[in-house]
Amino acid sequence: MLPSLIRKRTVFFTLLSLPGLFVLASIYAPSFNSWQFRDIQNFLGNIAMFLLIFVLSLTPLIQLFPRWRLAQALNTHRRSIGISCYIYASLHLLCYIISLPSSASILQDFQEFLYLQLGLAAFILLTPLFLTSNSYSVRVFGYKPWKILHRLAYIAAIAVFLHRSLGEEIQLFQTLLIFFPLFLLESLRILKNLFGLFKKKGSAPPPVIRKPRPKPAWEGYRDFRVARKEPNPGEICSFYLEPVDGQPLPPFLPGQYLTFKFEVPGQAKPVLRCYSLSDAPAQDHYRISVKLQRAPRDVPTAAPGISSTHLHATVQEGDILQVKAPAGKFTLEENVRKIALVSSGVGITPMLSMLYHRINQGLRDGDEIWFFHGARTRGGHFTAEELEKIADKNPQLQIRVCYSRPTEGEKQIKQDFQIGRLGAGFIRTHLPSKDYDFYICGPNAMMAEVVRGLEDWEIAPERIHFEAFGPSSVKRTRPLPKSASEEPTCTVTFAQSQKELEWTGEQENLLELGEAAGLTLPFGCRSGVCGACKQEIASGEVEYDSAPAADPGEHACLLCQAKPKGDLILKA
Ligand SMILES: Cc1cc2nc3c(=O)[nH]c(=O)nc-3n(C[C@H](O)[C@H](O)[C@H](O)COP(=O)(O)OP(=O)(O)OC[C@H]3O[C@@H](n4cnc5c(N)ncnc54)[C@H](O)[C@@H]3O)c2cc1C
Ligand code: FES
Repeated sequence: MLPSLIRKRTVFFTLLSLPGLFVLASIYAPSFNSWQFRDIQNFLGNIAMFLLIFVLSLTPLIQLFPRWRLAQALNTHRRSIGISCYIYASLHLLCYIISLPSSASILQDFQEFLYLQLGLAAFILLTPLFLTSNSYSVRVFGYKPWKILHRLAYIAAIAVFLHRSLGEEIQLFQTLLIFFPLFLLESLRILKNLFGLFKKKGSAPPPVIRKPRPKPAWEGYRDFRVARKEPNPGEICSFYLEPVDGQPLPPFLPGQYLTFKFEVPGQAKPVLRCYSLSDAPAQDHYRISVKLQRAPRDVPTAAPGISSTHLHATVQEGDILQVKAPAGKFTLEENVRKIALVSSGVGITPMLSMLYHRINQGLRDGDEIWFFHGARTRGGHFTAEELEKIADKNPQLQIRVCYSRPTEGEKQIKQDFQIGRLGAGFIRTHLPSKDYDFYICGPNAMMAEVVRGLEDWEIAPERIHFEAFGPSSVKRTRPLPKSASEEPTCTVTFAQSQKELEWTGEQENLLELGEAAGLTLPFGCRSGVCGACKQEIASGEVEYDSAPAADPGEHACLLCQAKPKGDLILKA
């Protein structure tokens, strides 16, 4: 309740302006209180100091209590707090200047009193921070230099501390008490970071452990009602889905997808398709965003996409859809702090889920998110404005966009994008270092180019994650490191290819096992939906973490989902 209230700009701006209103009331309604001019000056200075302490306390607060929603809510306003601090400090200085008879006496005062020199130093240090507290400056400077510049606030705080302690009346003890919460929070933060550092140094690097796949949140299909259908730019339509049984939804991992079974009029069989979740995990609804698939340009007479057309044209609010539990391995690692989300077209959907999740968690000091996206035009860029708004509030989020065919109007109005296709070169020019985990989703050509470019840049294979929305030709040239596994080993034979391979659990499924051994095997969705990877079993048995949507039938399996139960011979 309180965090949601605090998040509201109107509420928070009102709170920030209250001291100013109080001062106005003191000036224009003397009966309101009996303050002298000097009292007003001191009050304004104190407010500026409190706001500076407040804004500096947010970083340790968020680091120490990353899940505290109130701290997260306050953190969304850190820019406004900083700006208000500067405005109150300016008014404090102005009052001081007005209170003196001449400019000569100002000069004399500054020469004579150390506390005044310190106050002025603090004000000067805060000036560039005030001037650069906007997204434009972050873009122009680059995030890292901008952040270094804003560390001046700490030096300004020391100057303010001394300015107040050594003022006309020495107020060391009182000032110490005022600054104590900040000292305490910063000390705890430093201790926490040091402790983490020592732990890291002392222990050997952990082995790469393959996480056990979580069990599906429910078996089979569950009925969901379309609570809202929302047309979006780029021929995308979003569907907000609520469970018909009214039970709370289990959280999913950002990046996962849902599998749907549609009864499409005119289709002999149910149509199975996957759609990524395009929102942060929530208890009451899921959201998917579906691009209308028109006939390909080189086959204009082909029928448009079956399920996307069905969803856009036929499915309406109130309709019931059959949905399998969230699944997929293309998910955001929780402990990774510096990430680059790279997408093109409707490949943006899993990235949105990852981004919103991180923003909802609250970005901590040291977190960085770079959001690279490619679209044809800005008009067709799904969530363009929403992303800009989020970036405005979160300086640790950087957005870089390429439009391949912007309209003339777009070129004239906005210049903060590159004209052309999104590629590895574009990403490399913007990132300040290689120290990121990359999550990539989009058309095959873009993904292949980006993955190759990142490999050439010597990004470790385990830091490059990608997902295709259909048959994919993207291949790693450098294999992933071997992972530890507790699964028993057995032999998998690909009979036609005359390959006998050992299953040690390093790979996720039989398709990956075959590919790692250099076999070219057919596949499509890699999600157990399309059936393209189906292979006949000559002997042995397979198992699935959860039953795939497509049914391979008897004596066959879906390579993209199956694991051997023991020695296995496939006809492939
Ligand atoms: C893990 C995963 C996540 C996904 N997430 C999303 C998402 O978030 N959003 C999203 O929009 N999609 C997503 N997809 C893709 C989605 O599952 C569907 O593949 C997509 O919507 C197309 O399905 P469709 O039934 O509309 O098209 P289909 O009927 O499968 O047709 C695909 C294309 O083939 C063309 N075609 C049809 N017949 C012919 C022919 N004879 N010759 C040549 N071309 C032909 C159609 O015009 C169409 O362009 C995801 C896929 C996967 C695997
Ligand atoms: S690749 Fe589609 S089911 Fe396996």
